Amino acid sequence: MKPNEPSRMALIPARQRAAHQVLDHGSIFYDPFAINILGEGEKNVLQFANEHPLASIGRLFITARSRIAEDALSGAVERGIRQIVILGAGLDTFALRSPHGARQIRIYEVDHPATQAWKRLRLAEAQLALPPWLILVPVDFERDHLRETLVGAGFQENSPAFFSWLGVVPYLRQEAIGSILDYIASIENSEVVFDYMEPPQSFSEEIRELITERTKQLEKIDERWASRFEPAGMAAILRSHGFCDFEDINFQEIRSRFGRAVQGLPPGQAGLHVVHAKHQPSRQAKRRVTSAQSSACQTARERSSVQGTRYAPFGRTGDFAIQNCRRSLLASRAVLSGWPCG
Ligand SMILES: C[S@@+](CC[C@H](N)C(=O)[O-])C[C@H]1O[C@@H](n2cnc3c(N)ncnc32)[C@H](O)[C@@H]1O
Repeated sequence: MKPNEPSRMALIPARQRAAHQVLDHGSIFYDPFAINILGEGEKNVLQFANEHPLASIGRLFITARSRIAEDALSGAVERGIRQIVILGAGLDTFALRSPHGARQIRIYEVDHPATQAWKRLRLAEAQLALPPWLILVPVDFERDHLRETLVGAGFQENSPAFFSWLGVVPYLRQEAIGSILDYIASIENSEVVFDYMEPPQSFSEEIRELITERTKQLEKIDERWASRFEPAGMAAILRSHGFCDFEDINFQEIRSRFGRAVQGLPPGQAGLHVVHAKHQPSRQAKRRVTSAQSSACQTARERSSVQGTRYAPFGRTGDFAIQNCRRSLLASRAVLSGWPCG
């Protein structure tokens, strides 16, 4: 993204959601504000939808990921979650449509400062007032501290939260993705829905051509897809962050669940995925590692203190105690090779 310009890529999903209302009557994802917030007439929206014969593939994916995220969000609210964070919100209108207002829900929309300023303008022009439960939080994921800014805006880190993170992961570098997952994982019982892209070879030929075209368009506006993942790699990343309970929904599944609702959908395979992940490190595994480690180190401490060498790691008895502790730790790691998911 250019530092002082709103993400022009935020326009694409907003146009797809608007086109879905006109062409498919919102059958996957009903959003009565989609056209209004965009500020473009129906004619423009239809022109966009008909610009490319494969555009409806994007319309299916973008509306399905929103539907999956909002269904998961409703489930989270039913389970008692009261904080919702929309990362890279773009022109998302969930906060305007939220049916959960009476449940004292807080919605934090986090976005690049320039995109967020543009959204404020769009809302004002469309005469859409900010609802009282919505808090706008400007953050550049590549430069700013998400944690500090969110907490500064009133986010409660000791309460569970639902994170919606749509259309953003492909634009971030792996370090930024890792640190956001780390942060989500640091909030007990948190949940996240996000989407990701596979490498180009997982797209069928016609769609791959469209992707190449889009990549060139992105470069022209100084935006780029920076991260792609194989499903197995994504699963490993999720587990390494303690997201032991997750569902990875691929494009075939999306097509079979929702494809009938999109007019004129052509055939074709796309390496696109939507993930719903819950942070629940296995308690059993946690207990096993904690007790194995503490008993090994307790043994080391006891030996050292009995022999008066508590702080003598290089002495004979200190060496023995430490070796013993290390041996036990190695054994416990071998048992826990699936850590932290077990
Ligand atoms: C393709 S849009 C998706 C918007 C929205 N989630 C949707 O589905 O309509 C990508 C969003 O990610 C945001 N974004 C991209 N890079 C960012 C960064 N480094 N920091 C903060 N936001 C970023 C953009 O501002 C934009 O809102």
